[in-house]
Amino acid sequence: MSIRLGVNVDHVATLRNARGAPYPDPLRAARVALEAGADIVTAHLREDRRHIRDEDIERLMQAEIPLNLEMAATDEMIAIALRHRPLACCLVPERREEITTEGGLDVVGMDNNLAPKVRALKGAGIRVSLFIAPVKKQIEAAARMQVPDVELHTGAYCDAVLSNDTEAVKRELDALRAGAHAAAQAGLEVHAGHGLTYDNVGAVAAIPEIVELQIGHFLVGESVFIGLEPAILKMRAAIDHARAEMSA
Ligand code: PXP
Repeated sequence: MSIRLGVNVDHVATLRNARGAPYPDPLRAARVALEAGADIVTAHLREDRRHIRDEDIERLMQAEIPLNLEMAATDEMIAIALRHRPLACCLVPERREEITTEGGLDVVGMDNNLAPKVRALKGAGIRVSLFIAPVKKQIEAAARMQVPDVELHTGAYCDAVLSNDTEAVKRELDALRAGAHAAAQAGLEVHAGHGLTYDNVGAVAAIPEIVELQIGHFLVGESVFIGLEPAILKMRAAIDHARAEMSA
């Protein structure tokens, strides 16, 4: 089965905001991504609006982009999601001082706080996923909360690949494989993402339980050199190749 690809356009907005100009436009990037074969467009509306802004979400929704709205599980963000009703919401932890989403959600620790929010989003017909580390107790807590999807954090694996630490690569890949298996067994749909590149995506795409990958920063960076559409096509080819090898 082929994997859905979500393209995260946050850093198109980062570039735009660096100059305070109206370009490059994340909506234009979203349209190019869909034309290039992405299935979903992802945008993270952060509390500090450092990249995606409220009006970007409005424009993406008006243009009927199949949007995965990434956000912290705060009352403010839940209200925004309920107003826009995107295709999906991915709940992530958020700290003001972090450069990017650093860890997964502590679903175990925030059980009471999270469950009503998940229910409200689901009740509005929004597909909900929780961004978690591939750790058994987090997966079990997500399943208990009856969230339909989880997104497994691939950051630790990608960092291990970058630092050429073969032991850590094996350990983190094993954790992703075991996590994907446990999540699927628990009835959760399994997504994955963070830090994926042409070089490291294959091993993740080859994990059979994973049905969706979320990729942003690398694609936006690569588009400086070869353009967004070719970068997405190349990523798609790397993913499909790994998937075909898996089933061969
Ligand atoms: N998934 C989640 C939950 C994220 O927070 C991010 C980063 O915004 C991504 C996927 C994509 O990561 P990257 O930009 O490194 O591809």
